[in-house]
This record gives sequence, structure tokens and C-alpha cells, in this order.
Amino acid sequence: MSLNKRAIVTGGTRGIGRAIVKELAARSCCGVLFSDVAFIYNSCDECAEEIQQEINDPGTKIFAFKADASSFEEAEETVSKAIEKLGGVDILVNNAGITRDNLMLRMTPEDFDTVLNINLRSVFNYTKAVMKHMIKQRYGRIVNIASVVGLIGNPGQANYAASKAGIIGFTKSVARELATRNITVNAIAPGFIETEMTEKLTDQQREILLRNIPMQRFGKPEDVAKVVGFLCSKDADYITGQVINVDGGMVMS
Ligand SMILES: NC(=O)c1ccc[n+]([C@@H]2O[C@H](COP(=O)([O-])OP(=O)(O)OC[C@H]3O[C@@H](n4cnc5c(N)ncnc54)[C@H](O)[C@@H]3O)[C@@H](O)[C@H]2O)c1
Repeated sequence: MSLNKRAIVTGGTRGIGRAIVKELAARSCCGVLFSDVAFIYNSCDECAEEIQQEINDPGTKIFAFKADASSFEEAEETVSKAIEKLGGVDILVNNAGITRDNLMLRMTPEDFDTVLNINLRSVFNYTKAVMKHMIKQRYGRIVNIASVVGLIGNPGQANYAASKAGIIGFTKSVARELATRNITVNAIAPGFIETEMTEKLTDQQREILLRNIPMQRFGKPEDVAKVVGFLCSKDADYITGQVINVDGGMVMS
């Protein structure tokens, strides 16, 4: 029988999600050596194979499932398949997310709904699908990837900011509901992290953003992944309902 923790990560093929999959697979985590990981992706089949090959460690099992995280039915089906392969679930990381930026004057109802469905509804879908298993075993670690934009807002991102603020409210509510079952629920609010999501920024936009980052650099996916690893480890057993900023000091409260 495997002593590894079992993790499900949404949006695992690139950027922050990819770093999280690697961190959980490689980390001496949760009082055991490794986690077995099932990750969800929605488009790039080659990327899913690539990451499985990259990890290729006999100590960990990595499974990839193609699904649209915004679909409740697909989430139920995928989690049940993942649990069958992993033998259970101890960790859920809700990471899948998109942007569809526009000023409010130009934002369409479809831009709003799509971002809310993929960013926020997916968190509901996957949390709902894993929680009964976690409750039964009286153990679970849930980490939701929000954004500093959900705390302070950003022009052109009303849909994205609303979805991320929603994740924060969701995290705190579910943390309160599940605390007595030894299930912790926390959020991470990254600032600007170098991924495909932020690669569209112009040099001028980057310069302006850097002025607001006391550490004077953008973050790396691994900066976020390390905090996920910590929140899923034994060292964080008494932390729940928190939002941890990983932003080089951009937002201080
Ligand atoms: N990059 C940043 O600066 C930054 C800052 C704050 C928060 N975040 C958040 O971190 C998370 C990861 O972002 P990233 O920068 O790595 O972005 P990314 O675009 O590189 O990756 C997003 C991931 O989500 C997956 N995804 C998108 N739609 C999906 C769907 N319908 N179903 C399943 N998977 C889907 C993609 O396949 C991809 O793996 C997102 O939630 C994002 O909002 C990113």
C-alpha cells in the first residue's frame, strides 16, 4: 500500500499549475516522502504527456485527465476516476483559471460568465466532488489559487477580480464549515507571476507594474508552488481560512 499523499490539481499542464504538480510530486510533504498526483487539463495533450515524462519517478504516480473544470458533471466524473487511480484523495489544489480582460464599457456578458465559470465555479465543482471523501477520512488539504486582484481590483479585470474575490469568500466559508473535520481550506493570492497568462503584457505595462512591486521583480511559478507545498504539509496543520499573498510585497494589509 502506498503511503504517499494523493493530490488532485486543476489546470496542471503549464505555468503555476505545472510547478504545483512538480512540487507536490517531489516534495517531502505531509510527513511522507511524496504525493501521487492527478492533474486536470483542458487542451494540450502533448503538455500532459511531457509533464508525466518529466516527473518520471518510480516513487510517485502521475495521472492526467482531460476535462473542462467549469463543468460540474465532468468534475464529478473526473474526481471519481482520479480517486480510483490514486486510491483516495488528501489534497485538492484549485488552480485552473483564465483571463478575458476588457474595460467594463466593452465587457460582454459572455466575457463575464466564462471567466466566472472557469475561475470560480470550477472551485465549487472540485471542492464539492472531493469533500465527502475528505470528510469520511477526517483529513484534507484544499488550496485555492486566487489573486491579489481579488483583494485590490484592477481596471480591465472586473470579471477576473470578481471571480478571485469570490474564491476568497468561498475559501473562508468552507474553511469554517470543514474545520472540525480536520480539513483545512486556504487561498493563495499571487501577484504578477511569469507565465503564459502574463506574457501578453507590453514592456510599458511591465514597467508600471514593477514600480508597484517592492521586490522589483515578477514572481516565478515555483514561488507559488512552494507555498502550496507548505500549506499541504504537516507544518501547516493549524492554518485554515487564510489568504497568503505571494507578490513580492505588492499588497500589504
Ligand atoms: N500568472 C499570474 O500572474 C497569476 C497571478 C495571480 C493569479 N494567477 C492564477 O494562477 C492560476 C494559474 O495561472 P497561470 O498564470 O499558470 O496561467 P496559465 O494560463 O499558464 O495556466 C492556466 C491553466 O488553467 C488551465 N485551464 C484553463 N481553463 C480550463 C478549463 N476550463 N478546464 C481545465 N483547465 C483549464 C489551463 O489548461 C492551464 O493549465 C490561475 O487561476 C490564475 O488566475 C496567476
